[in-house]
Parts: sequence; structure tokens; C-alpha cells
Amino acid sequence: MIDHSTITRIIDTSEITDVIQDFVTLKKRGVNYIGLCPFHNEKTPSFTVSPAKGIFKCFGCGKGGNAVNFVMEHEHISWPEALRFLARKYGIEITETESSTQEKEKQDERESMMLVTGFAQKFYSLSLTENTEGLAVGMTYLKERGYRAPVIEKFQIGYSPERRNSLAQEALKNGYKPEYLEKTGLTIRNGDKIFDRFSSRIIFPIHSLSGKVIAFGARTLKQDKKTAKYLNSPESEIYHKSRVLYGLFFAKRSIVQNDKCYLVEGYTDVLSLHQAGIENVVASSGTALTAEQVRLIKRFTKNITVLYDGDEAGLKASLRGIDLILEEGMNVKILMLPEGEDPDSYAKKTDSGNISDYISKNELDFVLFKTRLLSEESKDDPVKKSMMISDIVRSIAKIPNRITRMVYIRECANILHIEEKILYLESDKIRNTDAEKKLKYKFNDAGSKDKKESIRFQPGTDQGSERDIHEREIIRLVINYGSRQLIPFNEETGEQPVTVTGFIINELESDELQLSNNHYHSIISECKKLIENDITPAEKNFSNHPDTMISHIAADLLSSSYDISRIWKRKEAYIETEEEKLKHIVPSTILAYKSFLVRHQLKETEEKLREADNEESLLLQQRYIILKNTNIHLAKQLGNRIVF
Ligand code: CTP
Ligand code: MN
Repeated sequence: MIDHSTITRIIDTSEITDVIQDFVTLKKRGVNYIGLCPFHNEKTPSFTVSPAKGIFKCFGCGKGGNAVNFVMEHEHISWPEALRFLARKYGIEITETESSTQEKEKQDERESMMLVTGFAQKFYSLSLTENTEGLAVGMTYLKERGYRAPVIEKFQIGYSPERRNSLAQEALKNGYKPEYLEKTGLTIRNGDKIFDRFSSRIIFPIHSLSGKVIAFGARTLKQDKKTAKYLNSPESEIYHKSRVLYGLFFAKRSIVQNDKCYLVEGYTDVLSLHQAGIENVVASSGTALTAEQVRLIKRFTKNITVLYDGDEAGLKASLRGIDLILEEGMNVKILMLPEGEDPDSYAKKTDSGNISDYISKNELDFVLFKTRLLSEESKDDPVKKSMMISDIVRSIAKIPNRITRMVYIRECANILHIEEKILYLESDKIRNTDAEKKLKYKFNDAGSKDKKESIRFQPGTDQGSERDIHEREIIRLVINYGSRQLIPFNEETGEQPVTVTGFIINELESDELQLSNNHYHSIISECKKLIENDITPAEKNFSNHPDTMISHIAADLLSSSYDISRIWKRKEAYIETEEEKLKHIVPSTILAYKSFLVRHQLKETEEKLREADNEESLLLQQRYIILKNTNIHLAKQLGNRIVF
């Protein structure tokens, strides 16, 4: 871990224009600099750098942040990696934190393990290229399968000799400890003897994202069915299967260039496609795809095409992988290869131009693909057909972005001749059941882990009170700006935009709060119903409301002049309207309301405490502490909010 003061030093030293100028040509424009955005294609510059604020912002694609964020985004690296990158640029020596001995031991252990895997890789490579047995057996096999020297070298393919301790012996001779040979799974202990895990096999080293060898896959040369085709390194401190994709290190540049990643199953598929000139390809290596693997790809592109063998074995199971990709907000297409082919065999027969051609002509979006696949089975069977429909809708429901979902629902409705509306309802139903985790800000988390300690208020009218004033302000925002977008569509995560009303409802619900004024409460419930039916509540829903009390409140709140909240920006002679400041005003209003409620409860609890008997007082004291913490937490948030 990088020591805290080093981090500060790196951040302080990294002058934003200086960092960015290594990648982007910047021109001075007033107090800022502008240039062509490196994150999207543009002809007129909308990429702005503010040296004074130390930030960049692209008004075209919306990307923005500080110098460290820029490096992360541009180089596709993590936060600590970006810090190290900048430290190198400015010659800052990195002090690692005095990590606890335990942490340090772990770190040392990982490094020792990687030294051993690095050594093993070299040993296996040499065994393939310079050793008589390796040349005769391993190299002959690879050549027969059509792999040529450049791809063998690039992927550092190797061979493990037949003798069951050849690696172990060589490693020990070179001073590597048996402990690390074992921990990396390269050897297996039997009593006091150690054996190589892999022997007489072709070795595929597995690389980390930064290109270090962390594990191996080993293919047998035998044809017989009894021998496992592949043996793989076991999970270890340096190798977590679910977080690694075979070939990603060699593919990442090409994935970015093509803005697309091909996903295949096996090591040999990756090799053959590379050899055919297609480099944006990774393999899940036989295990079921995980969300972590999908997120790895997402760092480089949002577009995945899954290449499936031209036979259907295992296809159904892999369909789960598609849902996983959809759930991450990525676009997924599927390509079925011609019957009897896998990417490896197909790539060998075809040159790269034709492969790309074949793929772009034959890849199908997942709805089409699933529909075709499943309708075969359910042709004349209505029960099967309805199961198939809900299967497809379940996939669509995984897509976080609403507009994308709509597009797919339309497509699905067309192909299957079903009413769109039915599909919408079905998809929303599925989403609602999946949605509990969505509510973000948990007010009860502030001080208490005990969900039951939530702060409930009974509805009841109490006009003119402090509480009423808070609630009226919330309703004023709903009626005046309810349909305005508060949180924009997030391109990165695919999360849907949130309206002012949507935000307010979420906030109230996540803390199980109800507005005490009955009319206000009805307005909120009505909004909720409209939203559930996909209608964005508009002011006319309330100004023309059949309940005269509600239409009265709406008219009142719509006309009342809140011009006081307009802020005159002295320098630029520019009036910033309330509407432009909604993203501050709405959360602050809600926080202020919650904060009021907590303070109110605190007072109540205090009063009760004074009169409580022993047993009761213990409970009240606990409650008091929880409320106090919540109050502090809210006040802090409110403080942060108000400074704008
Ligand atoms: N796999 C594995 N263990 C096995 C079989 C397969 O780990 N016993 C993994 C390997 O990562 C393999 C992938 O699943 O690359 C796909 O399996 P398969 O298609 O059978 O192997 P290929 O890679 O296509 O190998 P080959 O072309 O040599 O048959
Ligand atoms: Mn194969």
C-alpha cells in the first residue's frame, strides 16, 4: 500500500495540464485549456482542462475528474496503478505504509510465488524450444495443429517434460523454495517427495492484466479419453480463477481499438484467432463466466460478442453468461459458428478479413439469438412457448438501461407476435422483485446496524409546524420540477436517469418515511403509482386534480414566487435559476427533512429518558445514541451539501 503522505504528494505534484499534455494537445482558452477529447471521437474540441481547479471535463462525452482519474481512464489502470504511474513521471519515491507484518508477509509471499511462476514459464518455454523431447513431442504437436512460431512466442507456450520432477529439480537447483512451488500448485508433495503437477503436456501460461505469469493450463498430448484434457493451476494467493480471463493481457489494446471484445471458450481458440490477425479475444477457460470477468472486459469496452462452437452441447449453460453480461449494462451479441467448427478450427481455415466479415454478418443480438434457439424446441407447444417468452423477458429485464430495454422489448414483441405492453409488464414485474438492493442511501445505516430501529412517523396533519414547512418544500419541488431529470443516464454503468420525483420517492422509501400531511402523502403515493405505470408525473396531474384540495395545493405551489432563490452571479451577470441548482437543492431538502425528524425524535427520547425507570432507560439510552449518531451523520452530509 502506498503511504498516505506519498499519495498527497503525488496528487499535489501532478499538475493537471502537464499530465494531460502527455496525451492531448491543449490550447489556452481564457483561464482554461481545451483540446480534442481522447475518450470519444470528436472534430471540434469540447475537452476542457481547468488548471485552477485541477480538473478536466469533456462536454461531449461527460468524462471528467482530476489528474489521477485522467490517467486511470486513459491508461485503463486502477487507482494505485495511476498513482504509481504519476510517481514515476515526477520521480517521486513511493513509501509503502508500514503494513502490518501479516500484510507484509502476504505481499512477500505473493512476490515469491510470482518469481516461481515466472521461472516455471521460462523453464517450460525452453523445454519446448531447446530440449530434444520437447521439440520432438511438444513442438511437433503444435506445428501439426498449425501454430506458428510468432504466436507460440507471444503467448509463451511451453512444454512440461515427461519426467515427473524435471521442473521441481531445476527450480530447487536455482534456489527456489519448495514452499512456493507447492503454493503455486506447480508441484505436489507426496510424503517427502515432490512431483511436478504437469508432465508431458503443452503449457499455456496465464497472465495477469499487467502481463505477469500467475498460473498455467496444461493440455495432454494423449488422445485417450481417460486422461483429463486439461490440468490447470489450482486457486492460489496469486490466481483467482473467477477474476482472470485468458489472453486479456494480449488483447486489451486491440479491444480498445476495436471497441469490442470476442469471448471464446478455450486457450486454443484465443491462439488461433490471434494467429489469424484477430487480437481482441479472451477466453473464460472452460469455467462459467463470472461478473468479475465481465467487469474486467468492461474496463476496455462495452461490446462483447460471444463465439459459440457450432454444436449445441453446453450452449444452454452458457446462456447464463449472457444474462450476466446484460446485467453489467453491456451490449452482447452471439455468433454461432458453422456446424462442427469451433473458433480454433474455423480461424485456421479462414483468413482474418473473412473471419471479421463472417462475424459481422452472422452475429445476432441476444434476443434474436435466444428466440431462434428456443423457438425450435417450442414450436407447437403453447406451454413451452410461454416459458420461452418469460425466459427471454427475464434476460431483457436484466438490462439496466431503460431505453435499451425498450428497444429489445419492441424487437421481441415483433418476432414473437406478442403485445409490447404484456412484455413491459412482465419485465417490470421481474425488475421490481429484483430491485430491493437498489435503494442507495440508507439513513438507518448511519448510526445503527439494526434495521428495526427505523424512524417511523404516523401520518397526521399539523399545519404550519416546522415539519409541515419541510414537507411543503418537498411537495413544492415535486410539483414544480418533478419530471426533471436529476441524475443523468450513466453511460459508464448504464444506470437509468432519475427524476426529481423518483429521487424523492426513493429517499422517503429507503427510510420508510411518510409525509404526515395527508394531502402531501396522497400526492407522493399518486406519483408513485404513475411511475409504476411508466408515466412521468407532470404538473397537470396535480393542477387539474379531481381532489380540489390537491389541485389547490398544486396551484398554490406552482404560482408562489420563489424568485428569492434565484442567485445573482455577480461576475458573469448571469442569473442561475433554481432549476439549474436542483441537483443540490433536492438532496439538501430531503436531508434537511430527515435531519429535522431525527432532531425531533432526539428531543422526544430525551424527555422520555427523564421519566424512565431503570429497565426502560437502558433501551432509551441506546436509542438516544443511535439517533445522536444519525444526527451527526446527517448534519455532516447537510454541511457538505450546503457548501455549493
Ligand atoms: N478445460 C479445462 N479442463 C478440461 C477441459 C477444458 O480446463 N478438462 C478448459 C480449457 O481452458 C479449455 C476450455 O475449457 O481451453 C475449452 O475446452 P475445449 O473446447 O475442450 O478445449 P480447447 O481449448 O478447444 O482445446 P483443443 O482445441 O485442444 O481441444
Ligand atoms: Mn478446441
